[in-house]
Amino acid sequence: MNDRRSFLKSASAGLLSAAAYQNILGSNDRVRAGFIGIGLIGKRHLLDFLAQEDVEVAAICEVYDPRLREGIATVAEKSGKKSEGFKDFRRMFDRKDIDVVVISTPDHWHALMTILACAAGKDVYVEKPLTLFAREGRWMIDAARHYKRVVQVGTQQRSGEQYKQCVELIRNGQLGEIRNIRMASFRNIMPGFTKPVGVESLSEEDWRMWVGPAPYRPFDKDRCIYHFRWFWDYSGGQTTNLLSHNIDIVQWAMNAMPRAVAAMGGRYSLKGLGETPDVFESIFDYPGFIVNWSCNEISANRRPGLEFCGTKGTLRLDRGGFEIIPDPLIPAENQIPSFTEPRRVSAPPELRTAAVKKDGYEQVRDQFQPHVRNFLDCVKSRQQPASDLESGHKTSMACHLANIALKVGRTVRWDDAKEEITGDRDASKLLVKEYRAPWDRELKAVMPRT
Ligand SMILES: NC(=O)c1ccc[n+]([C@@H]2O[C@H](COP(=O)([O-])OP(=O)(O)OC[C@H]3O[C@@H](n4cnc5c(N)ncnc54)[C@H](O)[C@@H]3O)[C@@H](O)[C@H]2O)c1
Repeated sequence: MNDRRSFLKSASAGLLSAAAYQNILGSNDRVRAGFIGIGLIGKRHLLDFLAQEDVEVAAICEVYDPRLREGIATVAEKSGKKSEGFKDFRRMFDRKDIDVVVISTPDHWHALMTILACAAGKDVYVEKPLTLFAREGRWMIDAARHYKRVVQVGTQQRSGEQYKQCVELIRNGQLGEIRNIRMASFRNIMPGFTKPVGVESLSEEDWRMWVGPAPYRPFDKDRCIYHFRWFWDYSGGQTTNLLSHNIDIVQWAMNAMPRAVAAMGGRYSLKGLGETPDVFESIFDYPGFIVNWSCNEISANRRPGLEFCGTKGTLRLDRGGFEIIPDPLIPAENQIPSFTEPRRVSAPPELRTAAVKKDGYEQVRDQFQPHVRNFLDCVKSRQQPASDLESGHKTSMACHLANIALKVGRTVRWDDAKEEITGDRDASKLLVKEYRAPWDRELKAVMPRT
């Protein structure tokens, strides 16, 4: 018997506090979910939540009509249930029977929707990057704490077994002292995206909901579906889109935040829609180690990925698996090169650490689905999920610092305890943006006083 439903009947739903509501979801209860955004990743999440036995999808919110229809049809096909369609997520939040919301909109909506969902008593699964600008992260943490909500960030790699194993190996010293971590994304998308993704026009009302708190401009197919990620008003380019996944693992494994970040880059060759760089180089100074991130959208001839370089060897890690490549121990007499004498080679060379190789992992089965499960378990237990807000905030922060360094054209120094850029007023101004009315008022109305 579902205690929650009978409780709801006997209590006045309008008077139900967030704390009271959370207490009545038992481990065997069904979780009622509402989805916002059924795009590239939103559809994936919809399928993964529908595959969980204890989930009922009650509502779909999407401003783009074909996707709204697709979402509702997917729920009907997979579960045989009818879900309610919405264009305005606030009306979806009014439904007291919805326990959790899954936010898969463009980045400029993540913080505000999460905060409003928390205020409405919902737990939240929200996509990465957690924030569009740095200050939003602390607002989200304050709101979730105040309204006692569970929030999972969509950095699903934290639920991947191989990532957990690597974090343990790193912390146990398998690589020795890690002094350099290298991350890269190389692909060639020349001449650039010159066409929108088959987008029908949005009505003015729907487009205004798409733009939300970002600066208004008339409907633009090029900025809408998928391609929002190349425009500063809605995203931070590949630095927040891609780097956020890998730097999340770096900060998790090393438990550290950067002290200074330098970045250079530009949009040199890509034509057509977009503003964000096609070549980006960045260096992060962490206490005791240096992180390097290179992103290239115009040339693919390099190995992408994440590498932890230690004094005993290198760990290469991606969504398919990982490998530890041990360094050979070089005999002292061979450490200085000789151009006249043959090198003395001891075969086989002694290795500084053990070689390890694990592969065969699959992104959906081994990362997305466990991440969804972890969220649902935490909704019931009220524990912090694998990708909690604090970690998501710090991950996004590191990415924002790189973009800020690029924009001001100099190294920015970060005081993580104070969450301030030191000694640079212009850079500090870029930690925050204004929400367009009426969304500034919507935010203010629910933010707890800290
Ligand atoms: N975790 C991952 O591996 C992963 C992968 C892809 C994308 N993402 C993240 O997911 C987010 C979405 O990316 P995408 O590629 O799916 O984008 P997308 O453009 O394909 O989908 C976003 C959808 O949100 C809808 N939307 C926008 N504003 C809305 C509103 N106010 N109400 C309801 N619907 C609204 C759009 O109409 C669109 O259909 C991004 O932040 C991206 O970084 C994460």
